[in-house]
Amino acid sequence: MNSFEDMIRRRRSCRSYTDKLVAEETIRGLINQAVWVPSGSNNQPWRFVVITDKFLMKRYSDAAKNNWLSKLDESPHMQQYEEFMKDPEYNIFYHAPVLIIIYGNTNSFWHVYDCSMVAYNLLLLAEQSGLGACWIGFAHNIFASEETKTEFGVPRDYELVAPVIIGQPAKSGLSLEVSRKPFVTNFFDREK
Ligand SMILES: Cc1cc2nc3c(=O)[nH]c(=O)nc-3n(C[C@H](O)[C@H](O)[C@H](O)COP(=O)(O)O)c2cc1C
Repeated sequence: MNSFEDMIRRRRSCRSYTDKLVAEETIRGLINQAVWVPSGSNNQPWRFVVITDKFLMKRYSDAAKNNWLSKLDESPHMQQYEEFMKDPEYNIFYHAPVLIIIYGNTNSFWHVYDCSMVAYNLLLLAEQSGLGACWIGFAHNIFASEETKTEFGVPRDYELVAPVIIGQPAKSGLSLEVSRKPFVTNFFDREK
């Protein structure tokens, strides 16, 4: 079965990749498909940075880890990951061959929602193409910084929304088994 519903259920965050490169044409194809999302006032407020240089990714991984460690007190959501951040072997990009960073235009009110939908489309399109993908929030500090944005040539009025890694999954079934927590749905039915 390969229905759309199956694909939604099958997609898992991938945290282990082979060294197999992903062709630039494939990366461009994924991005070109992913932008077919709705956007507020149809502003389409996204732009992308693509990194396929593993040494550069390692540099950003180390910089992100050091940065989180230096401000753990002000970043309570990161305290549970302290051991990962201290582990020299831990690469926040899991040695994936491709990193696509989505920036949103802050002049467009809904840019975070719009760009998040593009990010999710990338995750689904990767799944559909037999690739693995994962949103890397751990990279937020480093890619949101003005210094890194300047390195990338990203204008000041663009804000980081989503760093997404993509690559050939190393092993199927390696991703963590995850379930969904119970949640509340309040229905207000029309009169019967
Ligand atoms: C905003 C956001 C940030 C995330 N950041 C990370 C991250 O830095 N590292 C990581 O391994 N996974 C990250 N994830 C993946 C989540 O851990 C994952 O989606 C969650 O555990 C559910 O698993 P699933 O994607 O396999 O359904 C992130 C996901 C989202 C949506």
